[in-house]
Amino acid sequence: MSKNICVIGTGYVGLIAAIGLAEFGNQVTGVDLDQSKIDLLNKGRSPIYEPGIETYLNRNFQSGRLKFSTNVVEGILNADIVFIAVGTPETENGEPDLTALNSVVEEISRNLNSYKVIVVKSTVPIGTNRTIHNLLRMQHSETLFDVVSNPEFLREGSSIQDFFHPDRMIVGCRTEKAKSLMFEVFRPLNVMSVPFVWCDWETAELIKYSANAFLALKVTYINQIANICEAIGADVHDVARALGMDGRISPKFFHPGPGFGGSCFPKDTKALVQIAKDINEPISLIETVIKANSVQKTRCISRLIQTGVSFENSTVAVLGIAFKQQTDDLRESPAVEIIEKLQSLGATVQLHDPQAMEGYKKVNKVASFFETSLEACEGADVVIIATEWNEYRNLPLEKLKNIMNGDILYDTRNVLEPELARSFGFKYFSSGRGLF
Ligand SMILES: NC(=O)c1ccc[n+]([C@@H]2O[C@H](COP(=O)([O-])OP(=O)(O)OC[C@H]3O[C@@H](n4cnc5c(N)ncnc54)[C@H](O)[C@@H]3O)[C@@H](O)[C@H]2O)c1
Repeated sequence: MSKNICVIGTGYVGLIAAIGLAEFGNQVTGVDLDQSKIDLLNKGRSPIYEPGIETYLNRNFQSGRLKFSTNVVEGILNADIVFIAVGTPETENGEPDLTALNSVVEEISRNLNSYKVIVVKSTVPIGTNRTIHNLLRMQHSETLFDVVSNPEFLREGSSIQDFFHPDRMIVGCRTEKAKSLMFEVFRPLNVMSVPFVWCDWETAELIKYSANAFLALKVTYINQIANICEAIGADVHDVARALGMDGRISPKFFHPGPGFGGSCFPKDTKALVQIAKDINEPISLIETVIKANSVQKTRCISRLIQTGVSFENSTVAVLGIAFKQQTDDLRESPAVEIIEKLQSLGATVQLHDPQAMEGYKKVNKVASFFETSLEACEGADVVIIATEWNEYRNLPLEKLKNIMNGDILYDTRNVLEPELARSFGFKYFSSGRGLF
């Protein structure tokens, strides 16, 4: 049976959840404090770049199942189920900032006019769901609410596909009533044989952090193997393929590059380290991953400096600013660190990204931005490919070589064929494919 759902926070996670839950046939209101986001959404336009999103957005918008508002109170009052999907960014000491989450919980508490299930989709430290439950219990009877931990695993760039076809659903809850409501809401997934893991709050919270930390570890592992390949002349792709053929290892998340970024892995690894320290069970493995990743991000620059390149007064084109392809998200992007490091070394930086330039123009007033990748590379001494956008796989190499001032092409994402690039006269560097 269709439910009235309010999704609080219409960012990368909340917007997809709102659209997906409406697609399942529910009446959904997505609410956000950001008036500009809501204005865009009410025009049927997405405030984020995500492949395919506007088709789903408009279909559910036009069906009347999906609406958007800045009126958080009304959203809560009319809902049977309230999903919390506000940001939990890291504070200066690496812990998650729960300011937005806490203010939403207070708002829910003030407006708990009927039984509601409060579903926490945001990634939160261990014990947060229990704290929310205890806070609500101080004001209301336990029969009036249930708190459910339902961490999100979508990947930006394929988040619609991930919402409708998750590997599993994690649901941490305490009562049968909440369990059956969650089951009903996500029945379409169950019909598609998506496995559900029913557990307690703390287990659900830890599953989210340990999954992200493990993936971060896997990325760091292949990056360090790639670094060894560079020194000994081996090919990391053959190594990764062979490792992935071992059923115990799996081939996913074995692509080398300039380190992990984005809004999740960096903050979630730090949060897990903090959680472990707080209970005196340090997770030194992940502490090492964080350190190794931070060196990896600008490894391309250190490597070039080692070969004698000086960046002072040079012109460097950086292709790609987003933290990965198919998103406009700049949070913790390795490309951004590369750009800032180049500028600090005295380079003039010319940039291109198919989706992330508008956002980055607001942040970096010194770099120059170009509509096409070739324009960005004109007159460059060095070109660095920092994001694996598909269009960079087809760079016209002959033209590129002719318009550049220099001949160094650093492909941190391995989107080009080394032999082909070298055949056009480039000094071609990659991540883990041969000596240089
Ligand atoms: N982005 C991802 O790929 C991803 C994947 C899995 C989990 N997560 C987790 O999901 C959560 C949300 O991440 P995100 O990337 O969607 O964040 P986001 O920053 O893109 O979106 C958060 C939204 O919440 C809104 N907001 C903040 N305070 C509010 C309030 N009091 N009332 C209403 N709206 C409010 C903001 O305006 C913003 O639009 C985080 O905890 C994150 O760790 C993110």
